[in-house]
Amino acid sequence: MIRVRVPATSANMGAGFDTLGIAFNLYSRLEIEETESGLEIITVNNSGNVQSDRSNLVYRAMDAVFGEAGYKQRGLRIKQDSAVPMTRGLGSSSACIIGGMLAANAISGRKLSYPEILELAAAMEGHPDNVAPALYGGFCVSASENGKIFVKSMKLRSGLRFAVMIPDFFVATKKSRGALPETVSLRDAAFNISRASLFQAALVTGDWELLRYGVEDKLHQPYRRSYIEGFDGIFEETYRLGSKATYLSGSGPTIVSVLSGRGDRFRRGMESFFSENSHKWRCMILECDNVGSVLSEI
Ligand code: HSE
Repeated sequence: MIRVRVPATSANMGAGFDTLGIAFNLYSRLEIEETESGLEIITVNNSGNVQSDRSNLVYRAMDAVFGEAGYKQRGLRIKQDSAVPMTRGLGSSSACIIGGMLAANAISGRKLSYPEILELAAAMEGHPDNVAPALYGGFCVSASENGKIFVKSMKLRSGLRFAVMIPDFFVATKKSRGALPETVSLRDAAFNISRASLFQAALVTGDWELLRYGVEDKLHQPYRRSYIEGFDGIFEETYRLGSKATYLSGSGPTIVSVLSGRGDRFRRGMESFFSENSHKWRCMILECDNVGSVLSEI
């Protein structure tokens, strides 16, 4: 049997649209074995609808690797146990894709390298910023060019914590991407290049006071904020409570604040704010996962 553990991820990180991403210590777990025939999908602890037929994302990701490897599988039993909330902007689909691909690669004789798996995964997901940290862990910068992915994963040993604020509603990535303009002005493009670069420099040099300027964004957050009731008030409250930088996680609706302390006071403050404002949100304090996906065979 193959076991795979894949971290949750948070993409964009403000200005780094389709480029920056980070892995968190919140996990999706798969147990997969090859059987004589058929497909059995068992889900445990899942927060949304998981397909139990061949349209299942883990299965489709496995099938893509089997196709590349020229492997004919007989049957499969897939058990999915995920603590990563679905369609909330925390990389649940990337976790399914990376987990399925790593398992299929192990079953079919490890014919694909990690860079090849990443390319297949980014093609399936449509962008590399979640799949890269899901595979490698850490804080990742990715760029894609004609299907090839350039990626650097940096391990964060900063002691930073991440307050991950998750609402009880979801926004599908497809809808959230549909809200974005086809073209942007040179001024907005230059604005984002400067902020995304500043964010990385601040993170790498430990200058936490610059992070809040580095998450400023003109490419996606202004177009997506209308999906989230109370968006501006939530951002203001996070900064009042000491956030070093607050951004929309991936395509949302989860909002992440970067914290330099342990985060207990921040979490309690945000929980009171949410309940006073009748927002049904929960707040978890997470750390960066520097390990990435882990596969074991038992
Ligand atoms: N970069 C992607 C987007 C992430 O913003 O649409 C989706 O989770």
